[in-house]
Amino acid sequence: MLAPTPAEPPQFDSTSLLSYLSPMSASSSTTAFLRCAESSCSSVHSLESAEYSCPTCRGLLDVDYNFSFPEGPAAAKDIFRKRLLEVSATDLSGVWRFREFIPFVSDMSSIVTLEEGNTPIYDGAASARFAGIERVRFKHQGMNPTGSFKDNGMTTGVTRARQVGAQAVACASTGNTSASMAAYAARAGIRSIVFIPAGQVALGKLSQALEYGAEVVEITGSFDDAMRTVRELAEETDLYLLNSVNPFRLEGQKTIVIEMLEQLGWRAPDWIVLPGGNLGNTSAFGKALHELFDLRFIDRMPRLAVIQAKGAAPFYRLFMTSDRANLVPEPDPCTLATAIRIGNPVSWRKALRSLDWTNGLVEQVTEHEIADAKAVIGRDGIGCEPASAVTLAGLKKLIASKEILPEDEIVCVLTGNLLKDPGYTVDYHTGKLSLEKAGEVKRIMVTRANKPRRVTADKVEIKRLLGL
Ligand code: F0G
Repeated sequence: MLAPTPAEPPQFDSTSLLSYLSPMSASSSTTAFLRCAESSCSSVHSLESAEYSCPTCRGLLDVDYNFSFPEGPAAAKDIFRKRLLEVSATDLSGVWRFREFIPFVSDMSSIVTLEEGNTPIYDGAASARFAGIERVRFKHQGMNPTGSFKDNGMTTGVTRARQVGAQAVACASTGNTSASMAAYAARAGIRSIVFIPAGQVALGKLSQALEYGAEVVEITGSFDDAMRTVRELAEETDLYLLNSVNPFRLEGQKTIVIEMLEQLGWRAPDWIVLPGGNLGNTSAFGKALHELFDLRFIDRMPRLAVIQAKGAAPFYRLFMTSDRANLVPEPDPCTLATAIRIGNPVSWRKALRSLDWTNGLVEQVTEHEIADAKAVIGRDGIGCEPASAVTLAGLKKLIASKEILPEDEIVCVLTGNLLKDPGYTVDYHTGKLSLEKAGEVKRIMVTRANKPRRVTADKVEIKRLLGL
């Protein structure tokens, strides 16, 4: 990270970076390198020496930089905003618009983009009432090209894959990562292979991966089994891994927070509430906030509130223990929010670091709480997939427990689009939402079902039905 600066960071020829860095906003001395994210190691390596794990201790890596903004933050903020009026896809991308924060690419013509990011922030009046507060805002990452926040990461991840000449990219996924990777790989003309837990991926997401031409391998097992397998395969073969262990992917996800702060006039909210699954986003958000604060783009740190589904909450349990040195995996994660049905999150150490940096916390919510919160977000005309709704459910709980105060400024991050998992929504509204665990089927209680009513095509009957 930014501090402490390594005694001798590797020096690279930075002249090629100048071709895209605006002369107003960043200096010619910006260099990119890798640093081990383990505080006990922190070893520094050149970009060419590793991709996902530290050559010294096998820990996760960060892409790090000797940032320099000689004109100061104000000039850089001005440039970020002005790029929205430009015509090139890189300026219009809500990721590459902030390229001075992710300067690991020297040739901007190699960028793989679908003009991701630039997602809206919405007020949610019904959601605020539900949580017992006056105001809540939602940053809707479901408005991305493939309908989830993964696009912010895949534009940088697949760009990196192209940069290193990868012939095939791969990931394990609960659905969204695979949909996004497949789309970006298709744009780049790179073979894509996705490993998914058989029968546990929402159809909207599976249909995307198939349509974008990914080779889909269904693993009979959990996401964690798929994750372990693809990590081993990436060690043994030329597959380029695009899960969040890939630090170049997480660089793109930093821009979710950078863009959010820009939208808030660079005034940090009190809280950013987000779902926690494999914990890549938590890791990326913490890194972004740390950099923004260090570089004086913001003058105070928002706090992160990470919310997990109760049936898949190993990070919550870690947070609640006094010894945070070891995460105990959940052997049988179980939630209808399939995107976060993860028992052994790969990025938990980085996520813990994010909590330290931001004085963050972790909460867990039940299936019933998730389901109702999702329906409320729908009634704000916003809508999201189940994993995203943990944010509002968690917020309601944290308000009730007074961890978050009613007057606090709060932004919840909705990570995926409503249309990703239509089956869940229809089951909710038709009273069929149920969860199977260990052969036992449990009906989920719901309080806001909006059931369709069937009637013959008879005007009298319809008028009576609708009170017209
Ligand atoms: N929300 C949605 C909609 C997701 O798809 C995911 C993760 C998360 C939240 C959790 O984010 O892993 O960064 O903590 N989905 C991954 C996937 C695991 O394969 O699509 P995280």
